[in-house]
Amino acid sequence: MGAGIAEVLARGGLAVVGIEIDAAALERGRGHLESSTGRAVKRGKLTEEARAEILGRVVLSTDFADLGDCDLVVEAVPERLDLKRKVFAELDRVCRDDAVLATNTSSLSVTEIAGTTGRPTKVVGVHFFNPAPVMRLVEVIGTVLTEPAAVRRVAELVRGLGKTPVTIGDRAGFVANRLLFGYLNQAAAMLESGHATRDDIDTAMTAGAGLPMGPFTLMDLIGLDTCLGVLEAVYAESRDRRHAPSPVLSELVRAGLLGRKTGRGFYSYG
Ligand code: CAA
Repeated sequence: MGAGIAEVLARGGLAVVGIEIDAAALERGRGHLESSTGRAVKRGKLTEEARAEILGRVVLSTDFADLGDCDLVVEAVPERLDLKRKVFAELDRVCRDDAVLATNTSSLSVTEIAGTTGRPTKVVGVHFFNPAPVMRLVEVIGTVLTEPAAVRRVAELVRGLGKTPVTIGDRAGFVANRLLFGYLNQAAAMLESGHATRDDIDTAMTAGAGLPMGPFTLMDLIGLDTCLGVLEAVYAESRDRRHAPSPVLSELVRAGLLGRKTGRGFYSYG
């Protein structure tokens, strides 16, 4: 997600500093950026010169101090509250006082993350969808503590990137995931009960409902750990049984089969 978001920002003409945890992750991030923009060149959507300009706008580093001059920081570390809180405490230390700090969380409380900083009025959620360079929606989340001007500024920036912002409050799953994951979880429950096969469920939803991907292909794209995290968060808040994670999903996550990113989830890859 981080590389995808960096690409969106750089394509929008902004100078981007991409921070990764170590040199290996940095190389993976660079690889994502290069292959995604390379594919756009091959498809005739981008010239080589434009690609070079985009890549030239992204500086990659492993040092948080390099974020010192940024106006906006978008955090996209794994979905663990302890980790996000640690990162935000560090961002609060190194970033300018007027910088807006945003989290790309898909399921955690933006309010809880904001609480680790001395500037909760400047903390928002900026939730991109996978793959970030393609999907138009960005949910912009303001908490009860966020100043409205910060939400407005981020929504304007998102629009300037050619994306469609919706501004919403801090509720588990926000809008899109709260609706989408009830459906994805039902698909997993249907598979589990032997009602239909994986392939038939996917085919029914692509050929019958006109969706670009069936639910199992989509869950593999999102990452099964992320799917489980979203369902757990929405279930904990709503107590709506439609969001009680299907056991097949928990089992795959326990086994480390997380979807495309690990080479196997509901499907096998490569
Ligand atoms: N990175 C960058 N660009 C990508 C890409 C990626 N990973 N995957 C595909 N693309 C681009 C292609 O380059 C192509 O661009 P152009 O049209 O400009 O040439 C375009 O997307 C279409 O790609 P393809 O023709 O190769 O494939 P496709 O038509 O099957 O589309 C898809 C692929 C866009 C992923 C489509 O299947 C789709 O929209 N799937 C549903 C995705 C979805 O629902 N995402 C939301 C998940 S929920 C979420 O993310 C929230 C959360 O918190 C968990």
